[in-house]
Amino acid sequence: MPGAIHAEGLVKTFGDVKALDGVDLDVPEGTVLGLLGPNGAGKTTTVRCLTTLLRPDSGRAVVAGIDVLKHPDAVRRSIGLSGQFAAVDEYLTGRENLQMVGQLYQMKAKTARARADELLEQFHLADAADRTAKTYSGGMRRRLDLAAALVVSPPVMFMDEPTTGLDPRNRQQLWDVIKNLVSGGTTLLLTTQYLEEADHLAHDIAVVDQGRVIARGTSDQLKARTGGERVEVVVHERERIRTAAALLDKYSLRGPGQGDTSVEEHMRKITTPVTGGAKLLAEIIRELDTDGIEIDDIGLRRPTLDDVFLSLTGHAAESAQPAAEEAAK
Ligand SMILES: Nc1ncnc2c1ncn2[C@@H]1O[C@H](COP(=O)(O)OP(=O)(O)OP(=O)(O)O)[C@@H](O)[C@H]1O
Ligand SMILES: [Mg+2]
Repeated sequence: MPGAIHAEGLVKTFGDVKALDGVDLDVPEGTVLGLLGPNGAGKTTTVRCLTTLLRPDSGRAVVAGIDVLKHPDAVRRSIGLSGQFAAVDEYLTGRENLQMVGQLYQMKAKTARARADELLEQFHLADAADRTAKTYSGGMRRRLDLAAALVVSPPVMFMDEPTTGLDPRNRQQLWDVIKNLVSGGTTLLLTTQYLEEADHLAHDIAVVDQGRVIARGTSDQLKARTGGERVEVVVHERERIRTAAALLDKYSLRGPGQGDTSVEEHMRKITTPVTGGAKLLAEIIRELDTDGIEIDDIGLRRPTLDDVFLSLTGHAAESAQPAAEEAAK
């Protein structure tokens, strides 16, 4: 497959740290794979191996139909990479940065300039095009870095945490750019700490932990693995919570009296795992009403990717500030 990414048994050790412990990946042509994992899981190392920046100790990889270890130069010509640490030249302007990339890829000066202008426009950097990158904000740098990776519209793209540090508006804009790119047939491997981002952009998700892929599937498949839906009810009067809990428990996954239903008295909240979706929810509302139990809130909750991540790796995502969390303890 000319646009696909395939990796098999990638191993990489740094001293006594086994950064990759046999990573297998497949990204079909024209699809997006989201690589998720806690800090230090091996995401960046995987990307560096696949983009020829790092030689794995063992394993093999084929990117865009080319063997990564045998023909790294050819791979480099077929891929775009935007890194976790932006590869922007501080002393060049935004426009010069992009033109330089074009020239590295043997574009004619005129073509490189036109492409640079197009990208500056697309990434909302036109106003800052003639300022040195040194004066750019973090978000602007990130956008410039991503624009640089898109100068030659390669068939395969790698993005290592493309939207980390961007504000919600810029993140949304970048998602649109990425979606556009993929609808044009680009194959993309993206790493992210934001599960919402993977949910939004990725066809398939691979969860890495300690240098291995520990789960993969679509977002829905992973969520289904973590456990199904549950009904949450907040009753108005705390005195009625036991009656309401008994009523809900009738509908719980394993049936009444099996201990499925949990009650948080102080929150006046009852949670029970169910199947049956919205129809069941309507039935429960009717029954509660018949029994004269007033409710403040009721809802059907499905597991989020955050729940998936937590149950698979035992730690929450977005642990970007472990120091702050430690300090808060
Ligand atoms: N050049 C290096 N020298 C020594 N150790 C390294 C090197 N690069 C990575 N490591 C180690 O390999 C492991 C995987 O690191 P990697 O950067 O791939 O993680 P990551 O999943 O990208 O994490 P993050 O979410 O923090 O970006 C870590 O334990 C890291 O300390
Ligand atoms: Mg990383």
